[in-house]
Amino acid sequence: MDGNGRWASAHGLVRLAGHRAGARTVERVVDWCRDACIGYLTIYAFSTENWSRSKAEVSGLMKLMGLMLREKSGAFLKSNVRLRVVGRRSDLPLSLQRQIASVEEKTAACDGMQLLIAVSYGGRAEIAEAARRYACDVRDGRADASAPPDDDAFRRYLYAPDVPDPDLIIRTSGEFRLSNFLLWQSAYAEFWTTPVLWPDFAKADFDAALEAYATRDRRMGGRRA
Ligand code: IPE
Ligand code: MG
Repeated sequence: MDGNGRWASAHGLVRLAGHRAGARTVERVVDWCRDACIGYLTIYAFSTENWSRSKAEVSGLMKLMGLMLREKSGAFLKSNVRLRVVGRRSDLPLSLQRQIASVEEKTAACDGMQLLIAVSYGGRAEIAEAARRYACDVRDGRADASAPPDDDAFRRYLYAPDVPDPDLIIRTSGEFRLSNFLLWQSAYAEFWTTPVLWPDFAKADFDAALEAYATRDRRMGGRRA
């Protein structure tokens, strides 16, 4: 969800105001996805690289995430949305970690849409962490190094192995890069980009993305029928 900062400067506002506006877009997008019967939505909220931003912006973003969780947890429960967080959560402030754990626990039995928030998330970090966990399993006798894992077995070491690969990745603000997002899982994802800045992302843009997706011929490396 890129473009919050540019949206803020275009409106003569501080960057954090852009993030606040972006948070409102998240609320709307969750509703649109539920209405469209989309099973899983992953929102890229904060990358492992975003820690290099100013202290004020980082702490503002952490506070905003806490506020969102507090405000929305009741609504998630009511609309049967299960919330999960993927990323290096031990990097996060303790209070936010606790809050995340509590919303995850509260919504654990919700079997409507799953909303995944990627926080302190990096695709490389996820894969490297998976490799480390596999190495620990070998060391501790839980895995047999003479039969190393294939793709499906390795996937079990990722943050949310039960979540299917994304069918569609929407990228806002005119960028054409993956920026370390779901590197493993995006192998055959369809890409859709728009110059629209995330706070301005509207239902018409969402519909356009789904319409474009519906016209894609997904061969997954196979041959055209
Ligand atoms: C939001 O947009 C991404 C987050 C880290 C929350 P940006 O903050 O990257 O916005 P731009 O790229 O400066 O416009
Ligand atoms: Mg950006």
